[in-house]
Order: sequence, then structure tokens, then C-alpha cells
Amino acid sequence: MSVENQKVLVVGDGARESAMVWKLAKSPSVGKIFIAPGNAGTAKLATNLEDVGPEDIDSLINFAEDNDIDFTVVGPDKPLALGIVDTFNEAERKIYGPTQEASQIEWSKIWASEFMHRHNIPHPQTIIPKDLEDAESKILGLSHLWTNGVVVKADGLTDGKGVVVCDDTLSATNAVHEMMMDRKYGPGGKKIILQERLIGQEVSVMAIVDGNDYQLLPLAQDYKRLRKGDQGPNTGGMGSFAPAHFINKRLLEEIQRGVIEPFISGIKSEGRPFKGTLYSGLMIVDNEPVVIEFNARFGDPETQVQLPLIDVDFLSLLTATSAGHTHRVPIIEKKGAAVCVVLAAPGYPENPQKGLIVHNLEKVSRKEEVLIFHAGTRVDGRKVVNTGGRVLNIVGLGKTVDEARKNAYENVGEENEAPYLYHMEVRRDIGV
Ligand code: AMP
Ligand code: GLY
Repeated sequence: MSVENQKVLVVGDGARESAMVWKLAKSPSVGKIFIAPGNAGTAKLATNLEDVGPEDIDSLINFAEDNDIDFTVVGPDKPLALGIVDTFNEAERKIYGPTQEASQIEWSKIWASEFMHRHNIPHPQTIIPKDLEDAESKILGLSHLWTNGVVVKADGLTDGKGVVVCDDTLSATNAVHEMMMDRKYGPGGKKIILQERLIGQEVSVMAIVDGNDYQLLPLAQDYKRLRKGDQGPNTGGMGSFAPAHFINKRLLEEIQRGVIEPFISGIKSEGRPFKGTLYSGLMIVDNEPVVIEFNARFGDPETQVQLPLIDVDFLSLLTATSAGHTHRVPIIEKKGAAVCVVLAAPGYPENPQKGLIVHNLEKVSRKEEVLIFHAGTRVDGRKVVNTGGRVLNIVGLGKTVDEARKNAYENVGEENEAPYLYHMEVRRDIGV
């Protein structure tokens, strides 16, 4: 196979996948990019396979076989949990991401907390209740031990929404009922874990892992709550910035030595070597990292600020990593910073309105320091309308976070001539 003119398939439709397409399009070896299903923005750089959903693994493998796709990159968690990588491996089609077994670190929080316990990876105190009744009695017993509160987490995948941080016993009991009885977050809430609530700074650390070795992306911070000042419900992420300047060298070494390396050797020793992106969601407590979640994929909206800050042939990096040689394509971190602001539909995250017009798309600055990544959008005649909760991401770049933030917010509308949706949800404090 020639390394020129490669055909690449990206799986997903969010702003994270839009950023991947943008970065892949800069790789000299990329010939053509397909994305399943894609959005109104990706259509400019790739061919959207509108009828192929990210979880439709049969159609994805058939498409890859019929069109001789050289390499596939998976964005979201669900296809990994469904075993897309195993299916592609069996068909001897190259793909970037962990197997179903290796991605259990993300799709079962029960398994992940037991794994961290087995390998001495620092994590919050955790209880795994047997059933609803057991959960209720454990919550009552914990109230005087976990004085900062209790975090109730769905065991399975919930589109990033199945985590409820509770201040008191009553709200924790309600959260358990909503998850286990009402299935507010879907089948992922059938089982749950209870965790001690920690207080600290959060940081997302992404490692590109080839089974044995790894390289890091710039450290990032994600803003999960809907509203300014970290108020309102948890969301899939309302913004991000990188690099996370508050992590010093000592702490980074501690994260590598105490979290990433034991993860890689531990999962390998259990017979499920991990290849792909390990996302460590950390809280820094008393100057030490504690893992509050592991994910088995790139983050959203972290990817949107990390990819503009690295100098690397992205396709070569991913192919070298899945072939077990990540260091053959070194990641060079650029100077400067990036800030991403998410424009979400009114009603997000509970009940986002759909079909709303995205205004002023043509008014985004053409400066190199401004990038726009679409999420839930589609073309409707001559307009672009939203199809999901998170709609657009505006990324500003700059020498500093302040400069990057300015470049981003100058391109967020409603008060100025820039993209907006009526009554959109947008945080005005990203990177502040
Ligand atoms: P997760 O999906 O597990 O990252 O949780 C979503 C968000 O909930 C995190 O980014 C934190 O802000 C919060 N969270 C999760 N676990 C804890 C914890 N043990 N203590 C405090 N906050 C937490
Ligand atoms: N930024 C949160 C996530 O990707 O899960």
C-alpha cells in the first residue's frame, strides 16, 4: 500500500470529530476523508456519510471494505463499547482505538474503580451498592464520613450526563432513584457507584497509547457545568482551554508515574492491552492527582483545543500508534494557548430545541487565530440548522490564554455580529 493518498474514515458527528477532520486534512498522506455521519461543517473537508450512524458497525465495516479505506478513527465512546475495533481487527482493517475489553475502563465505572483498586491508582473512596435499597442505606451511613457530599455515578455510558454531585443525603437519594428506578439516564443507570465528593482543580490528561508506550497531548481543562461560575447541571462540556498552566513539572511526573504508567502496565497484565487515547479526568487534591474518571477516547471539547496546539502529522501519529510505535511520530507541542467556547441550543442539556437556525455563520473572522468546529448541525436549503444540544464550537488561538479567549469571544454572537442561536446557552467565563 502506498502511503500517499490514503483514504480515511472518521466515525462521529460532534465538534471533536470536526476537529479531527480538520487536523487530518493537513496530513500530507491523506487523500480523501469520509465521516459517518458528519455535520454541516465537516462537509467542507470530507464526504459526509449521512445515513451511517456511529453505532452502525455493520455499515461502517461494509463501507470500509467496499471503499478500501486505509485507516479508521473512532471519536465517540459507544462504538468502542460495542466492539467496533474488534470487528475491524477481525476483518484486518486498520483502525485507531481500544478493543471492547480495553475500553471497559470507560463503559463500566464499577470495573474501572475495581481496576484502579487492583493497581493502586489513586481514586476517590468508592462504594458499589448491590441494589437500590443497599444504595439508600449506604448513603445514610456515609453522611457523617463524606462531609463534602456524595457523587452518584451511573455504571454505564450516559452521554457524559450520568454523574450527579450531591451536597446532602436527600439529593443523593433522589439521584439514585432517578438513575436506578426512573432510568433518567437510560440503561447505563441500571447499576451505580457512590463516590466521596472531592474538592479541587480538574484537569484532562490525554495519552496517545500504543499498548506499551505513550505520548501526551497538551493538558486541558474542561468546563462541565452549564452556567457561569460552575453552576447548573453537568453537561457534555461547555468549553475548554489548553494548556492547563496550573500543572507544574512535579505534578505532571506524578500523573505519569502514578496514573498513566500503572494504567498501561496494569491493563496489559490483565490481558487487554490498550491502544488508543487514554483520557484521565483528574482532580488535584492536596497537590496530588486523583482519578475521577478514565475514558477510552479523545475528549470533547478538549480535542478542539489540543489539536491546534500540536505540530504533528496526525494521520501518521495515529497509524504509528496503532501499529505499536507511537514514538516514531513525535508530538511537538506548540507555544501558545487555545480557548474553546460551546454554543448550545436553548433547553440543553435536558431537552434541547432542534431545527433552530444558526445565524451569522458567514461572519466568523477569517483570521488564522479563529477556528469554527460544528457539532449538531445540518444544511437545510440555504440555512444551517441545529440537530443536537451542542451546536457550534468557536476556538480562539493566541500567545496566551487571555489572547486566545479574546479571539474566541469576539466570534460568539448575540451581542456582536457573530454566530449565534436565539436564546442559546453559552458560558462567558471560559478560560477566565
Ligand atoms: P465524570 O463524568 O466522572 O468526569 O464526572 C463529571 C464531573 O463530575 C467531573 O468533571 C467532576 O466535576 C464531577 N465529579 C465526578 N466525580 C467527582 C468526585 N468524586 N468528586 C467531586 N466531583 C466529581
Ligand atoms: N470532556 C468530557 C468528555 O469528553 O467526556
